[in-house]
Amino acid sequence: MDTSLSHGRLNFHVEAHATGSSARAGTFRTAHSHVLTPLFMPVGTQATVKGQLTQSLEDAGSQILLANTYHLLLRPGPEVFRRIGGIHEFMSWRHSVLTDSGGFQIFSLPHSRAMTEEGAAFKSYLDGRTILLSPELSIETQKAIGSDIMMALDQCIPSTADAATARAALGITQRWAARSLEARGDSPQALFAIVQGALFPELRRESAAGLCEMPFDGFAIGGLAVGESRSERQDTCELTTQFLPQDRPRYLMGVGTPLDILEAVHRGVDMFDCIIPTQVAQRGGAFTSRGFLQLRRGVYKFAEAPLDPLCHCPTCTHFSRAYLHHLTKTGEHLGWQLIGQHNIYFYHQLMRDIRQSIFEDRFLALYREKRAFLHEPDA
Ligand code: GUN
Ligand code: ZN
Repeated sequence: MDTSLSHGRLNFHVEAHATGSSARAGTFRTAHSHVLTPLFMPVGTQATVKGQLTQSLEDAGSQILLANTYHLLLRPGPEVFRRIGGIHEFMSWRHSVLTDSGGFQIFSLPHSRAMTEEGAAFKSYLDGRTILLSPELSIETQKAIGSDIMMALDQCIPSTADAATARAALGITQRWAARSLEARGDSPQALFAIVQGALFPELRRESAAGLCEMPFDGFAIGGLAVGESRSERQDTCELTTQFLPQDRPRYLMGVGTPLDILEAVHRGVDMFDCIIPTQVAQRGGAFTSRGFLQLRRGVYKFAEAPLDPLCHCPTCTHFSRAYLHHLTKTGEHLGWQLIGQHNIYFYHQLMRDIRQSIFEDRFLALYREKRAFLHEPDA
């Protein structure tokens, strides 16, 4: 692979900009696939998107999945990937994979973690062993996993942290990013850095400016969707994208609902991941073109209509609301699976609609129209 490309290892190109908005449509190429942005990545923490065959994900339109270094380091461990030949082979997925670095998962551990300049020490939830996750170990593990896009280890803090805490975390994140780049060496895998800085504009600027001096293939906005309000999230996102280069993909980590995603695309973000579509499916929740719907409700007992009459996903093509209602009421796994596939399809369709509207220069109209009716999951 030619690593001298001015657009980084992914050869990212913006193909169209929206008028009156920071939304953009682009493409990039990984070792496994050609990817269209804006895009949504289903979450496959344990090298599986819960309840979904990789064929179902392909049918739903997934281009790239997210997996977690923290979990896969503990189990099955990097040696399994080294011997089997990487995550694509392991889980039978032929498209792209992005791995998160482990920073966020360690931050989410309630106890038994200690951050030092060297890395994040934590106790394994499997056997109680203490592991020091350094930027180098994170990259070594991500190399073994064989993801197309690796993330630099970062120090994620609550978005409501005070300025001193946020400043210290972004300093460490900056130094860990430089070490991650060094550890990546001449591997063809792409590497993204993660901007931190809580809700402080000046710290976000400082974090972005420092990271942008280094040759990363893309930049993520971290430390959001962890306790702040939607307007704080939007303001921080809008401000941060302005400090990021035009010619690299921008990834808002862990966000969000369809409405959050629409708002962030408007503010210049290209990539998203979130567990919401599969998580709400587990409880019978579905996103539809008419708003959010709870299939456990008795009103669907005799409903012959498909889940979403305007949807072309396999679930809506073959099954009625009455059947899905029955599956959710009886706690059958298939209900979760079918609604999950529909929800993932819904997210991908949203991204396709957005992308199309950017090319046709009617994003702002689509934004206003969709904003009015993307109801939030409430169950
Ligand atoms: N996922 C959601 N937010 C974050 C973050 O700030 N850092 C990392 N590494 N992953 C995330
Ligand atoms: Zn559907």
